[in-house]
Amino acid sequence: MTPARALSVLVLVAAMGAVLVPATVLAQAGTAPATRSSADAGIVDEDTDTPYVPTPADVVERMLHLAGVGKGDYLIDIGSGDGRIVLTAVAKFGARGHGIEIDPRLIERSRQSAKKMGISDRAQFLTQDLFESDFSKATVVSLYLLPKVMQLLTPKLAALRPGTRIVSHDYAMLADWQPDISLRMFVPDKPVGRDRHSTLMLWTVPAQVAGRWAFELPAAQGGGRVELAVSQSYQMLTGKATLNGQPVELAGLRIDGERFRFALEPSGRAERFRHEFDGLVKGDTVAGTATFNARASAATAKWEARLAR
Ligand SMILES: C[S@@+](CC[C@H](N)C(=O)[O-])C[C@H]1O[C@@H](n2cnc3c(N)ncnc32)[C@H](O)[C@@H]1O
Repeated sequence: MTPARALSVLVLVAAMGAVLVPATVLAQAGTAPATRSSADAGIVDEDTDTPYVPTPADVVERMLHLAGVGKGDYLIDIGSGDGRIVLTAVAKFGARGHGIEIDPRLIERSRQSAKKMGISDRAQFLTQDLFESDFSKATVVSLYLLPKVMQLLTPKLAALRPGTRIVSHDYAMLADWQPDISLRMFVPDKPVGRDRHSTLMLWTVPAQVAGRWAFELPAAQGGGRVELAVSQSYQMLTGKATLNGQPVELAGLRIDGERFRFALEPSGRAERFRHEFDGLVKGDTVAGTATFNARASAATAKWEARLAR
């Protein structure tokens, strides 16, 4: 490593959480720092060249629990280092997946580990640049990348299939996409940072529900046309509803991946009731169940609505 590269690595590791991290930290981490061809040519972008710093094993497990990784999942670790997140997801959580990593030495090490563990058919590793990779196959994405990279990736991650879970170690997305869950944990063996803590964050890609939804209430519930106008910023929704053109109170409006829910509470009527709607969004349609809670009875029915964007 050239002295200039060594200095850059120190700066980068400092950005990952340490104030002054000696090169021995990287040695303790078990590998030389990642390289890319531009870096070797002396062009290092300190904002986007994430150095190799491994996520400690207990943090890996917690991330996978937080994302609810299981048998049906396909996990992609973006910047997979020595492959530990993919290897753990496959060996301990029953998932399949792949890691993408710019450093071929780390890829080779990951493949060797998968081979030793007998899971090469379910855990793959690809030498790729994360800025040119396709993550669309993922049901879960994991990341431990510098803030600038997280920000650059935010639009691409937000456009993944609704319901895809994204779990990140220490660094957030663009500020307006707040995590659904954020937790801090004590990490005694954290290789960077002064306070020996990690922050884990989870996002679920929301379906796009902004626009005007319309549907008819069943005749048994008095009939009438419901219209719902929804505005959306990631998973944050606001909206207004009308029943036969008259404003009606809207409660519990939310989107969790593909799951779209809200309740109508017509007010100003002698009869008080609450109608709850809960369905899965597929493109411009939502389909699921409506529960009609009138004063004296409750009924459920299939429910479908269409979106005019
Ligand atoms: C902080 S490490 C995280 C490693 C692993 N995900 C973990 O949590 O243990 C970031 C990794 O991203 C890799 N990386 C940096 N820039 C990359 C790029 N443009 N494309 C792919 N991988 C990259 C680095 O080589 C490094 O191994």
